[in-house]
Amino acid sequence: MSTMLANLLCVLLAMPATLASRPATFWLPEQASTVAPGIDFLFDLINAICYFFFALIVVLMAYFVIRYRRSPQNHAGNAGGPTHNTVLELTWTIVPLIIVVVIFFLGFRGYMESNTVPRNAYEIQVTARQWDWMFQYPNGARSDDLYIPAGRPVKLVMRSVDVIHSLFIPDFRVKNDVVPGRYTYAWLEAPTPTGMQRGHWLFCTEYCGDEHSNMNKKVYVLPQEEFDLEIERLARWMDPIADEDLYSLAGPRIYRQCAQCHSLDGKVGIGPSWQGAWERAQAGTTPFVDGSTLADHMGPGKTYGTPEDYIRESIINPGRHLVTPFGNNMPTFRTLLTDRGIDAIIGMLKRLDEFNADGSWKGRNGDAQ
Ligand code: CUA
Repeated sequence: MSTMLANLLCVLLAMPATLASRPATFWLPEQASTVAPGIDFLFDLINAICYFFFALIVVLMAYFVIRYRRSPQNHAGNAGGPTHNTVLELTWTIVPLIIVVVIFFLGFRGYMESNTVPRNAYEIQVTARQWDWMFQYPNGARSDDLYIPAGRPVKLVMRSVDVIHSLFIPDFRVKNDVVPGRYTYAWLEAPTPTGMQRGHWLFCTEYCGDEHSNMNKKVYVLPQEEFDLEIERLARWMDPIADEDLYSLAGPRIYRQCAQCHSLDGKVGIGPSWQGAWERAQAGTTPFVDGSTLADHMGPGKTYGTPEDYIRESIINPGRHLVTPFGNNMPTFRTLLTDRGIDAIIGMLKRLDEFNADGSWKGRNGDAQ
């Protein structure tokens, strides 16, 4: 009850939420964002009202059952009972009216608060796909888990490349659908850093297929300087890799985004296996759904100059030539892969015998004895 009163004070006085943040309770997870205290206060208030009326009704009911049970003294029929009581009727009309108006007011305010993004918010692009999240920062860095600066409003600009997903961070009381073909937003401000160890859970909360549970990730709240360093590091992960090592070092990491649909061992998935894909492309035998083969489109004056051109196009514009018998299921990776990233994938395709079925690298052929 005392935390409820403290929350009430914070809500009424619009005090900084850090003062009100609290660990998990029986009903609710930890409060880790600035909007959480207001939302929790309303939840606790409605809960308390329910307890009160549940107790009131059950106690009175039990009392009336005993007090007015059928007995010779009580057997008065319909005669003599009260028909009307103005004070009682006004009370049970006005009191609930006040309660629902207060609930409406607090709910409306909480809704506006969690839907109005502060102007100075730091923007992070969120892309949902079956079945992972990609968080992209203004400097071009990308991550699977979400990193945010502490004590600063963050706006998430969200899109989906396939089906409806939904972003949910329980500790922040933040939740919104991520819908293909439109942008949706969420914003959050977490006052307290978590460091790189603990993190808050982030879920996809719309059942989106087989591996929906792969979309459970973490949110790490870092102090501003640490955050800047981290996204700098994320942005440059491919830089220190020499060109000749790109396919072996960057390839497996990028392949994780492809693994849901493209196997390396010939197993048929949502898209064609990569096993033998390079050899077919080189020979021009890659079969397309329109009945042609890659050879029909490759050569001087045709769509593709080289097999590499075709692979590149398949990554950034996958619908152009569909490999039979597969459908047009692949989203474009145009904005998701840099040129070096595409080089890494092409390098990997060319040397698939150096990789295990899970995409890990066995070692350079010839180097190993
Ligand atoms: Cu994405 Cu469930």
